Amino acid sequence: MHSIAVIPGDGTGPEVVREAIKVLDAAKAKFGFKIEYTHFDFGGARYLKTGETLPDSAVAELKKFKAIFLGAIGHPDVKPGILEQGILLKARFALDQYINLRPVKLYPNVETPLKDKGPDDIDFVVVRENTGGIYTGIGGATRVGAPEEIATQMMVYDRKTVDRCLRYAFELKRKRNAKSAKYAAKPITLIHKRNVLTHCGDLWYRAFEEMGARDYPELKRDYNHVDAANMWFVKNPEWFDVAVTENLFGDIITDLGAMIQGGLGVASGGNINPDPGGVSMFEPMGGSAPKYTGQNVINPMAAIGAAMMMLQSLGEEKASEAVEKSMIEAMKKMKSQAAGRMGYSTTEVGDLVAKGL
Ligand code: IPM
Ligand code: MN
Repeated sequence: MHSIAVIPGDGTGPEVVREAIKVLDAAKAKFGFKIEYTHFDFGGARYLKTGETLPDSAVAELKKFKAIFLGAIGHPDVKPGILEQGILLKARFALDQYINLRPVKLYPNVETPLKDKGPDDIDFVVVRENTGGIYTGIGGATRVGAPEEIATQMMVYDRKTVDRCLRYAFELKRKRNAKSAKYAAKPITLIHKRNVLTHCGDLWYRAFEEMGARDYPELKRDYNHVDAANMWFVKNPEWFDVAVTENLFGDIITDLGAMIQGGLGVASGGNINPDPGGVSMFEPMGGSAPKYTGQNVINPMAAIGAAMMMLQSLGEEKASEAVEKSMIEAMKKMKSQAAGRMGYSTTEVGDLVAKGL
């Protein structure tokens, strides 16, 4: 039995979550596993009513589930930062979801803004460290509002946090290499800025080189400065297979990744705690999209992709692969992956993928 905590959240979150659950239920019927959902109403609407974001009692409760499925968090009437910190970041930290896994995969018939690039060229994974760096919030401000105002926000990393992220990335690279010669021909790439961030960058680089040479000598290693990696994502995305990086750089480059794979309608991610008993959280990358809310026009494909990732992490490999195949067939029929231009409604896209199973 897979017990799943579902947080539909704000805006279009509930609409896309509904379609993802439709697909999960179809997969359950076909592959004969059991799955049970418990819904939670955390999000902007609840915050505006009660002042509560994600209370500690909720964190304790979420720890009892096998996984969390999240729709979207974000409300036009709530000041930026409150829900992000209070719900999303709090869950990541409290559940120690130290990997942010972002597949950047262009599927057939999905439009990319990159000229002359196709599904063969855009098929990699970003492993973003998800609990450290600038996101730890260490720093402060003084003389706020005065011309002499000072603000600091520090990039904080310790060797263990770096090592556990690298470990995950190297293991993932090994798995992908075993799957396909195309992946095996490519290196694992560390992305940082060690020409300027001489302390944090040096820590990441040495840890990467040491672990790679010692434990994964068969894997080719590469290193890119983050600014250069941005260029290569656009110019030569085919160079990448597994790219591993620290938190903020990962945040930035994965939005670029989302665009080259066809936009927020198709980009999914996992906040992963890979440790035994760890509770991971899967989500579509697109936000709450208030302007599309309630119109049945938002693309649920990213949420369905997140469900596919969740199935894999639950050990339902066959079901996960079948969902991906069905997603591909549905995308071939769709006119576009952009909200309102799909040629289908939100519910119809969910139906296509569910029936395709
Ligand atoms: C993401 C988001 C979050 C982040 C925000 C909403 C706090 O941009 O998941 O990439 O910065 O990590
Ligand atoms: Mn982001």
